[in-house]
Amino acid sequence: MFVHLHVAAWALAFISFGLAWALYWYKKDKPAAFFHWVTRVLLASIAVTGIILVYRYITRDMMGDFGPELVVKTLSGLWAVVMMEWILYRLKRGGVFKGFVVQLVVMVAIALILGFGRLPWGFYP
Ligand code: HEM
Repeated sequence: MFVHLHVAAWALAFISFGLAWALYWYKKDKPAAFFHWVTRVLLASIAVTGIILVYRYITRDMMGDFGPELVVKTLSGLWAVVMMEWILYRLKRGGVFKGFVVQLVVMVAIALILGFGRLPWGFYP
């Protein structure tokens, strides 16, 4: 169940993040601020469900089999979450953020490849 919640949280977060980005970009600050907050709530949900999943790995003694992948997946996931907030913050306040976008793309790619490709708790029943 937490895998589904986790996947739903980041899928929705990407949509709301994109909306907030577009709205800031076109200087629609009020609706942008709304979607910025929605994104923050979703980012927190990603982190909470992710940490619950990590906790399960530890309590189920699965670190021996998947330890390195899980550590990299967790770091890339957390990194991606932080980048999304930093990008929106820079869009709101001004400043360069291209480097954050590059980091976000790389970290999301790592999280997706390890999450779907390597780690065993499948999304499909
Ligand atoms: C935008 C950020 C993130 C993306 C794109 C992402 C992506 C994914 C994907 C694709 C899966 C596999 C779902 C499946 O098996 O069907 C997954 C599972 C998981 N994620 Fe994330 N994740 C993100 C953030 C995080 C964070 C912040 C944490 C930890 C704090 C985390 C921890 C986990 C764990 C422990 C699993 C279970 C692995 C398994 O399938 O066995 N993720 N995530």
